[in-house]
Amino acid sequence: MSSFDIVVLQMVSFRFIDLFCGIGGFHQAMTLLGGKCVYACDIDDDCRKTYWRNYGIMPERDVTKVDTQTLPAYDVLCAGFPCQAFSKAGKRLGFQDETKGTLFFDVERILRETQPKYALLENVRNLASHDHGNTWHVIYEHLTDCGYNVLKEPVIFSPHYIGIPQHRERVFIMCVRKDIGVLPKFSFATKHLPKCNINDVLQRDEDIEDLQHYQLSSEQVQLLKLWDEFIHGIKVEKLPGFPIWSGYLCSPNPQEDMSGYPAWKINFIQKNQQLYQSNQAFIDEWLQRARQCPLFFGAKAKLEWQAGQTNKTSLFEHILQMRPSGIRVKPGTYFPALVAITQTSIVGSRLRYLTPRECARLQSFPDTFMPDTIVSQAYKQFGNAVNVDMAKLFAQYMFGDRSIQKKYSYDENVSCVDFLKLIDQYPEEIVSNQVQPKGINVEKNVLVSYMKSDALQLFLDGTINVYYTGRKFPSTIALNKLYYFMPYKKGKGIRDLYYIKTARVGSRQEVFTNADPNDFRLVFETEFVCQLFDDYYLVDLPIWHTFKDTTVKELLSSKGQTEGKSVEKGGQTYVA
Ligand SMILES: C[S@@+](CC[C@H](N)C(=O)[O-])C[C@H]1O[C@@H](n2cnc3c(N)ncnc32)[C@H](O)[C@@H]1O
Repeated sequence: MSSFDIVVLQMVSFRFIDLFCGIGGFHQAMTLLGGKCVYACDIDDDCRKTYWRNYGIMPERDVTKVDTQTLPAYDVLCAGFPCQAFSKAGKRLGFQDETKGTLFFDVERILRETQPKYALLENVRNLASHDHGNTWHVIYEHLTDCGYNVLKEPVIFSPHYIGIPQHRERVFIMCVRKDIGVLPKFSFATKHLPKCNINDVLQRDEDIEDLQHYQLSSEQVQLLKLWDEFIHGIKVEKLPGFPIWSGYLCSPNPQEDMSGYPAWKINFIQKNQQLYQSNQAFIDEWLQRARQCPLFFGAKAKLEWQAGQTNKTSLFEHILQMRPSGIRVKPGTYFPALVAITQTSIVGSRLRYLTPRECARLQSFPDTFMPDTIVSQAYKQFGNAVNVDMAKLFAQYMFGDRSIQKKYSYDENVSCVDFLKLIDQYPEEIVSNQVQPKGINVEKNVLVSYMKSDALQLFLDGTINVYYTGRKFPSTIALNKLYYFMPYKKGKGIRDLYYIKTARVGSRQEVFTNADPNDFRLVFETEFVCQLFDDYYLVDLPIWHTFKDTTVKELLSSKGQTEGKSVEKGGQTYVA
């Protein structure tokens, strides 16, 4: 049983605190895993009320006022610290934002002073790249300094990676107290993502109370129909990837001074004008009708087609958003990230906005959850929340459940090699030798390998008899040729001979407990046979091919020929 398995068992019941608790995305996730909330805080009164209604806990207010002396004992700290300072939507002042940017340091203070076993933090994706990576670096350094193992690379994840129809990339920071363990790298293959289906979260219209509250007005429908006609009416090879600005659907105006415009803007203007010129008759007629629509002005007279090249060309088969930059059309497979500001998505096929219940489902909150009764507040609160399933996934991973990653990811790097299957598949290629008591068979091939300095001492003093090759090996050797093994000490040469008893697939973590268990290696289990040469003997051999054409006999006889000669290696000259 690994140390992580033990931790999993211990984490069956645990106590957590929920900082910046919002409406409790972390609360939901931790409770599902057996956790009990012993403290929560959020400065926003509406969130606090929603929290109270759902969990019977009235959160305290300001994180900066938390007195760690009075905090109850707990095992896990959860914090989705405010993100405006790092978010693309905010001013991006980062740590310089005196109110929002420095709240991370309150998390650090609480961690440093209370030292729980684990901490799980969440923030916007931009945190990873903010200030050219410096912000992440500061966070990493501070968390490490206060006693936690943290993955060096920020982990970025989105619900749509695991089949939840919301595109919401977030950074998750898993912290494991140093005495508890090390987190192996979290890798996830985004190549084979599961298909998302928005119907998984949609309510039936007949089940929605106040349905009319969410339905588009007749003017809004008229506006979308106009844009739908536009998409169908223009003759183009590909649907335009650039924004359609109806104000520029005209011939170029020589009077317009574009010298102050940025290049991207001039490019878009020119593209709109070209589109107009190749569809003039249709666009003239369409514009005339469009201008009759009372909503056709400002951002609503602009269209951002971001649904790619699809045969579903109707606007009504897609997800729509009325944004300050225009009406944005997204593929009908998953929703853009819920956000706290009012850009609630429109389900094209239903001619209505998402309901709070649907937002709750997009954030993986259960249907028993009671959203704020003020709809605008409910949208805001779900937009700020952490997705429950993602929080749960990372908590499980942090607590030691490695299977969680494989459940969703087909990444070759993390898929486990089934060694028993390999033996069935290649019965001839797996070597399992008997040590010959009567000396060595000098006709056998020998493998000479570099001994990496970190493994050398362990190997020589017999602490381990497992040797891990570098990553190059598995593709360059034929296993059935292996018989003897001679560790090659860089710059010094070879001396001792070992049997390779077994060659198998293993993990580097078998020897280096801190290593990633998914760092698979070809493992040689060896047994010392004898010391072949009095001292280290420098061989001039193409190391990685030695096993194919070098026998122990050749090696022994070549000693005489090589002795005293200088050998060139890696730009240096050695004298054997
Ligand atoms: C990104 S949201 C976290 C949402 C939460 N994880 C959830 O699942 O709902 C950040 C929260 O921090 C709260 N907040 C901002 N400043 C705070 C402070 N000084 N003390 C406590 N909470 C604060 C905001 O009110 C907001 O609810």
